[in-house]
Amino acid sequence: MSLNVRVRSTDPADLKVALLVLPMAADPTLDSGLQKLDGQLGGALGRSLERRDFRGGRDETLHLAGAESGPARVLLVGMGSPDDRATALRRAASLGARQAGRMGTATVAVFAGDLDEREVEQVVTGLHAGSWSYDDLKTPPPDKDRRDKMAEATVVVADESAAQASCDIGNALGEGQALARRLAMMPGNVCTPDFLADTARDIAKRNGLSVEVWGSEEMRREKMGSFLSVAQGTPQEPRLITLTWSGGGDAKPIVLVGKGLCFDTGGISIKPAQGMEHMKFDMCGAAGVLGAMEAISRMKLPVNVVGVVGSTTNMPSGTAVKPGDVVHASNGKSIEVINTDAEGRLVLADLLVYAARFEPQAVLDAATLTGAIVIALGHTAVGLFGPDEKLVGEVADAARRSGEPGWPLPMWSDYRELIKSDVADVKNTGGRAAGSITAALFLQEFVADYPWVHLDIAGTAYSENDLVALPKGPTGIPVGTFVEFVRGRAS
Ligand code: BES
Ligand code: MN
Ligand code: ZN
Repeated sequence: MSLNVRVRSTDPADLKVALLVLPMAADPTLDSGLQKLDGQLGGALGRSLERRDFRGGRDETLHLAGAESGPARVLLVGMGSPDDRATALRRAASLGARQAGRMGTATVAVFAGDLDEREVEQVVTGLHAGSWSYDDLKTPPPDKDRRDKMAEATVVVADESAAQASCDIGNALGEGQALARRLAMMPGNVCTPDFLADTARDIAKRNGLSVEVWGSEEMRREKMGSFLSVAQGTPQEPRLITLTWSGGGDAKPIVLVGKGLCFDTGGISIKPAQGMEHMKFDMCGAAGVLGAMEAISRMKLPVNVVGVVGSTTNMPSGTAVKPGDVVHASNGKSIEVINTDAEGRLVLADLLVYAARFEPQAVLDAATLTGAIVIALGHTAVGLFGPDEKLVGEVADAARRSGEPGWPLPMWSDYRELIKSDVADVKNTGGRAAGSITAALFLQEFVADYPWVHLDIAGTAYSENDLVALPKGPTGIPVGTFVEFVRGRAS
């Protein structure tokens, strides 16, 4: 939480930075704003483009050494032929910042010609994204091997004062995403339910929000038997965290709900060992809520937003909930627990009942809910679910604007047959077929009469492979979507 990106209107040739990043679309020609730099480099830039050493393909890079004066190094970054220039610029800025990290260049600038407001936001956010890393748990290398971390970054714009607001928004979003990724990357023995609660308190204190943290006693009082059944297998105290940003007078709030499983072993229905370590990421919904609250409060958006996080750890133990057990959620509905690994929906059930007390204008929940969403949409799109097509469309638009694409899946009542129980009102799994849809239909049982959209982020919140512009690990999704949705409601 330290990088501050600023905007400056200047000729890029006059920037005394360690690295100048030049994002370029496919088949680039020399931008008129780069004439002076090209002269400084003895024409090397123009020649590289003329010879087609660099063709501007997506993620293509070409490194040029700088001259005595001006930027010490220049990195061309290709964007291909993007559908959306702002998103492509974010990716290029991120890739450039990542390369700056590898080279240890502490000062970075980006020049990409004329930028509109959204493009400035996205370049700033991309610089944050590409400079992010989590090294708290590694012994630092000896001084002689140490590489500088990016400390200062500049985006070249035509009009500084016109671009300042967009820069501030990009910085706020960048900080929110960095916070979410940091929480996600922390191992389960460091990022516990108590740690998430302390993080929420810290956000509240720094940015002027109010915060309330419940434990099992308060949850028992509220009869949250569904959430508590997941928590009964671990000695850790479960936490229900409520963060409130009051920027919108007496308007109804937007409620953001996040699944915060600090680790998911599957419980008695235990998961296979292979790759189980990735289940530390089962709190990415919660991290997304906290990251969004960080960004929204930094932006001081004129809107009321309540962030709700339900956090525990899913463990097998002598006290753990068992397959076949029946538990009761706080709306009185009974649930047959067929599979203890379908725990996220048990936590969310009570959170969605709880959300009704805020009389929300809309509720969005985000959860790493189902492996099935990876089969349906891969690692590219967030799964969107909701009974109100218009609201789902509004979330899909926000997702697209933020460069975190989402795609709707149906919630037809035909699928509801799959979660009928022999002994209870509903069962917590509907089998392998349409697994993400039956999960969403399960959640709907606990949604009161408020407008609601569910985001299944199991395929997109983290990556097991390097993503070129981002390393493997957490992506920051769904912070951008949450913030864009809220911004859309604020205007
Ligand atoms: N946290 C998992 C879902 C998940 C899977 C997240 C892969 C990230 C990557 C969730 O709690 C879970 O275990 N879901 C089960 C549900 C099943 C038992 C009905 C699943 O998807 O296998
Ligand atoms: Mn699970
Ligand atoms: Zn889970």
